[in-house]
Amino acid sequence: MHIELNEEQELLRETVRRFADEVVKPKAKEIDETGEFPMDFYRQAGELGLAGVCVPEEHGGAGMDVVSYTLVIEEISRVCASSGVILSVNNSLVCDPIQRFATAEQKQEFLVPLAKGEKLGCFALTEPGAGSDAAALRSTAVREGDHYVLNGNKVFITNGTHADIALVFASVDLEQKHRGITAFLVPMDTPGFSRGGHEVKLGVNASGTTELAFEDMRIPASWRLGEEGEGFKVAMSTLDGGRIGIAAQALGIAQGAYEEAVAYSKDREQFGRSLSNFQAIQFYLADMSTEIDAARLLTWKAAWTKQSQKRYTLEAAQAKLFAAEMAQRVTNKALQIHGGYGYTRDYNVERYFRDARITEIYEGTSEVHKMVIADWVLNKA
Ligand code: CAA
Repeated sequence: MHIELNEEQELLRETVRRFADEVVKPKAKEIDETGEFPMDFYRQAGELGLAGVCVPEEHGGAGMDVVSYTLVIEEISRVCASSGVILSVNNSLVCDPIQRFATAEQKQEFLVPLAKGEKLGCFALTEPGAGSDAAALRSTAVREGDHYVLNGNKVFITNGTHADIALVFASVDLEQKHRGITAFLVPMDTPGFSRGGHEVKLGVNASGTTELAFEDMRIPASWRLGEEGEGFKVAMSTLDGGRIGIAAQALGIAQGAYEEAVAYSKDREQFGRSLSNFQAIQFYLADMSTEIDAARLLTWKAAWTKQSQKRYTLEAAQAKLFAAEMAQRVTNKALQIHGGYGYTRDYNVERYFRDARITEIYEGTSEVHKMVIADWVLNKA
């Protein structure tokens, strides 16, 4: 494993940072307040190849490696966490499983427009009664000839307000528990498919979170992704990759908050000197920069393991757990360094502080990650 980025990765990071600073950052505060989904950003990101970073060029993507993907999500999240997760979901939770499980026809129909950013995807797994216990989902898919009829409800679906294509998980046989779960690719204008309104949240407020419902939704069997009963493995192996994306998002949020704190500590004077001259503040900054680097190394290690085609469940869970918890500590300290101003909406740190919180919840809570890590340490290492 190389800890240094190669020339191509450095160039990508510079390009995405410029795009983030010039195009994404100026709108971050506004879209957080209004909850407006940043579709312009998504289209522009698509033109830069960021909607399908690791998808091969022949399928509309940029054909880059997994470490490059983490750089993209970190740099975008460094200025706007909503934009970061929008991209992360499309890349890791939708394009990646299609790339791995789809037929050639499905790739042409679904993957190419998603990887180009012409269409937006969402991942429909979570249900009102099935959050951490994903295998307990109750949506059903009943086979009728060469069709399936789907019924059920999904909640907390990122991108759901604006997505064109959903990766939907439903059971062909509830008695089979996780072995009945099956994955389907569904255009969201299919009759019987409906979406709710924009969910107002503590943070990542512009990421288009909503509910979905399927009522006697009839779809061709050719939209099934993988085999019947294979859906839980599709979901779990996809979430392994998604967790690398969320680790990178947490890293970007922390990095953004840290940079604001460094600048503020040099600028703000109290007791006749800048805050950066106080050892208490210096120690905060020292801890923050160390933790951010540690999370970055874990994230790159998970990405590198995925790139090496090895099983990377453990590495992804460790990176996501550590990066998400690190982001709470770093954004909290960044806010503390800003004092009373940090608690107001005039400064960006309060947004970073709110945005960081979700990284400990979605794509697996910290507690789920500890279960996964303990299982590997005790039973699989
Ligand atoms: N890759 C491949 N297969 C896997 C796997 C993985 N990472 N993890 C488990 N499996 C397989 C197992 O090998 C097992 O296979 P067999 O049928 O052959 O035995 C099967 O799946 C069941 O495994 P478990 O018994 O371990 O499953 P479980 O029901 O105990 O669940 C869990 C384990 C880790 C708690 C899992 O349910 C989980 O990750 N829960 C969290 C769900 C989650 O992350 N939801 C996020 C929603 S999406 C989201 O947030 C997106 C967004 O909008 C931003």
